[in-house]
Amino acid sequence: MVYISNLSDHVDEEVTLKGWVYNYRSSGSLYFVEMRDGSGICQCVVAQDAVSEEAWEQTEALRQETSLEITGKVVEDERSIGGHELQVTDLKIYQVAEDYPITPKEHGVEFLMENRHLWLRSQKQWAAMRVRNEIIYAIHTFFQERGFVQMDAPIFTGNAAEGTTNLFETEYFDDHAYLTQSGQLYGEAMAMAHGLIYTFGPTFRAEKSKTRRHLTEFWMIEPEMAFYDLDMNMDLAEDFVRFIVKRVLDRRPKELEILERDTSKLRKTAEEGFPRISYTEAVEQLKSDDMATMLDQMVEDRKQEAEELENEREEIEKERGQAKKWRKAQIDERVIEIGKRLDEIDEDLRNIPDWRESALNFEWGEDFGGSDETLLTMKYDTPILVHRFPAAIKAFYMKRDPKDEKLALACDMLAPEGYGEIIGGSEREDDLDTLKKRINEHDLPEDVFQWYIDLRQYGSVPHSGFGLGLERTVAWLCGLDHVRETIPFPRMMGRLTP
Ligand code: 4AD
Ligand code: MG
Repeated sequence: MVYISNLSDHVDEEVTLKGWVYNYRSSGSLYFVEMRDGSGICQCVVAQDAVSEEAWEQTEALRQETSLEITGKVVEDERSIGGHELQVTDLKIYQVAEDYPITPKEHGVEFLMENRHLWLRSQKQWAAMRVRNEIIYAIHTFFQERGFVQMDAPIFTGNAAEGTTNLFETEYFDDHAYLTQSGQLYGEAMAMAHGLIYTFGPTFRAEKSKTRRHLTEFWMIEPEMAFYDLDMNMDLAEDFVRFIVKRVLDRRPKELEILERDTSKLRKTAEEGFPRISYTEAVEQLKSDDMATMLDQMVEDRKQEAEELENEREEIEKERGQAKKWRKAQIDERVIEIGKRLDEIDEDLRNIPDWRESALNFEWGEDFGGSDETLLTMKYDTPILVHRFPAAIKAFYMKRDPKDEKLALACDMLAPEGYGEIIGGSEREDDLDTLKKRINEHDLPEDVFQWYIDLRQYGSVPHSGFGLGLERTVAWLCGLDHVRETIPFPRMMGRLTP
């Protein structure tokens, strides 16, 4: 089989492509068919006098998403989508698709989510899944090249790793089980057997949060390393994320272009070190005069930008009346662009006062909200690492800072551009008695954790690990504003189908 992604190996040859009609237009005796075959899109030109009568009849029957095979000569064409064009000699339909529901016009997101099984075929969705795949490949490459062993944690569990408030409970014969929130605790047992391990599996959170960052089912990558302290953990997390970003920039430039991703900040992430600040420093930053000034400046900048855009729109709309057809089209496109940007500015102007308020009133000991994370990363182009959080807001298994018992040796990585937390991790409590004490303090049943406690009984060592949320990483790298587009079939509050 020849695939569109490999057409450069077949220039001037006749090939047969199998796929679907992505788009088409006709002008008299010519048809321009944009065909997609899963690997890419190629323009196929059907000239009535170059094909049989039967093939021409088939061509005239084409509809969007009709499945077909097309035979033709491959020619290089810079201007063409994908860089090649097919001069068609034959065409055969598998099935005509009548009334495909997703047309090139704009649809509402609810409609698209209802049709997720079809929406996956659209170009941006396709590109996002390609980036997701590249990230997955990069993750395995990174760890495998460094001697980590990939091991699987169970999905059915009898214990809670990340607090008991967001567990999905299910029947388990005469007993009940929980769907895992994290593979970490098992990861720790596996690290004591293999030294360096990582899990890569689905995790579940019954969070009643309808935000653009929350799924109820998401994929988490959790490395766990024997003999690593918090600093080594953060070094690894940083190298890991930089590696992923580099690979996606190197290997998926076309997809990022389809997604219209501005890659300037991602390029910095691929090259520069990530700043590290303590939670206490982060709180100081949030409450600082600098933060207030920055936000006030932001409001001013946004207002000015909006004014300039509105002026531009007024001018080109005046020009439109007398404009030539091509210029009209250009103007229409620009007007849509301006409208979108103005909506974004509007949203910012509505949000910024709330962000400012919540930042200035932030109290040491609280957990960061989404807007706090956005503000903390605003100064930077790369992700940042925040470490040493108040122990009271973190999980039972985290080791305390020997220099300050109120603090946990935890670290979160916050992505820039408003994407927020992508990694959560820590050094683990490795002392038997302290761990037992923590389990009791958190009102957790000691009996179901007995196996975990055993790890501190038989050859306990310092160890650390972290968890990367795959979907949040995909959203960030693709520049998508909601995690629902980062996984083939998202599961969220209020969404279980398709
Ligand atoms: O910070 P979290 O809860 O950390 C853990 O579960 C640790 N046990 C990890 C470890 O140390 N091995 O989750 C880790 C990451 C978050 O930073 C976020 O990227 C992602 O998982 N995540 C979610 N992604 C989508 N939807 C949700 N509801 C998520 N909850 C967490
Ligand atoms: Mg977290």
